[in-house]
Amino acid sequence: MTGQSGLNAVAVVGAGTMGQGIAQLCAQAGWPTLLYDVAEGAATRAREAIGESLARRVARGKLGEAEAESILENIEIAVELADLAPAKVVIEAIVERLEIKRALFDALEMHCSPQALLCTNTSSLGVGEIAKGARRPERIAGLHFFNPAPVMRLVEVVRAELTSAETCERLTSFVEGLGKHPVVALDSPGFIVNRCARPYYGEALRMLEERVATEAEIDACLTDGAGFPLGPFALMDLVGLDIGLGATRTIWEALGRPARFLPSPLLVEKVEAGKLGRKSGEGFYRYP
Ligand code: CAA
Repeated sequence: MTGQSGLNAVAVVGAGTMGQGIAQLCAQAGWPTLLYDVAEGAATRAREAIGESLARRVARGKLGEAEAESILENIEIAVELADLAPAKVVIEAIVERLEIKRALFDALEMHCSPQALLCTNTSSLGVGEIAKGARRPERIAGLHFFNPAPVMRLVEVVRAELTSAETCERLTSFVEGLGKHPVVALDSPGFIVNRCARPYYGEALRMLEERVATEAEIDACLTDGAGFPLGPFALMDLVGLDIGLGATRTIWEALGRPARFLPSPLLVEKVEAGKLGRKSGEGFYRYP
C-alpha cells in the first residue's frame, strides 16, 4: 500500500495490550510503525515488551535474531501526534471512552495527512459515533483486531454509514498485507465477533452463578468437548474482565437491554474487586 502519496508508515495510538500487539504485527509485516501513547514512557515500555516477546521466539528457534532486530527497528516511538504525519494508516487503540476517542480523532484530522485512513480498534463503541463531527468521515473506519493481535487471524473492517467504499477497499488490502483475514462488518453493536460472543460468555457466567460446574470444569468442557482453544473463563482472563464488562454493557445498552445480554453480577463483582484477569494477576484464575 504505497503509491503517490509519499506516506510510508503505519501509526498506532495507544500502547496498551491491543496497541502493543497491533504495533508488533505491523512491524512484523515490514511497516515502519510509529507508536504513540499520551502517558509518558508507555510507548517505550510497550516497545521493550515487544522486544521481549520477539526474544522468546528467537530462544525457541521460531525467529532469527536478525529478523527480530529488524522488526524492532521498524517500531519508532512518536513523542507527539504531529510525529504521525508520515502515516498512511492510523490505528487508534486507546481507552473505550467516546468523548476521549472523539477528541483524539479531531486531533488526528489536524495532524495527519488528508490521504491517511483513520481507524479505531474499538470493540463496542459505534464507529459512526466516534466519527461524528469529523471533517472527513469518509476516511474513518473500524479496524478491529483480536487479542493476541499478532496471532489471531481475523480483523473486522467496520464500515460506518459515512465510510467510503474506497476506504473499505484500501483497508481490506492493508489487512491482507498484514497476513490477516479481513471481514467487512456493518457498524452495529459489537460488530460480528463480540455480538456472537456476549451470550456465550454470559451463559458460562450464569452456569457458574448457578454452581452447575466450576470455572475449570466449564473451560475444560469447551476446550475438550467443543474444540475452543481456550474456555470462556480463561479467555475472559486473557482479554481483561474490565474490557469484557465494558463491551457487554455497551452492547446491552445499544441493543435495548435484552435479557440475554444482561451483564453478569459475578463479572461486575470481580471488576469492582480489581480482579481483571491476567493483567492484574487474578481474574477467574490466579496468575503467579
Ligand atoms: N503476543 C504475540 N504472540 C503470542 C502471544 C502474544 N500475546 N501469545 C501467544 N503468542 C504466540 C506464541 O509466541 C506462539 O507462537 P509460535 O507458534 O510461533 O511459537 C503462538 O502464539 C502460540 O502460543 P502458545 O504456544 O504460547 O500458546 P497456545 O497454543 O495456547 O496459544 C493463544 C495461545 C493463541 C492465545 C490461544 O490460546 C488462542 O487462540 N486463544 C483464543 C484467543 C481468542 O479467542 N482471542 C479473541 C479474544 S476476543 C477479542 O480480543 C475481541 C475483543 O474485542 C475483546
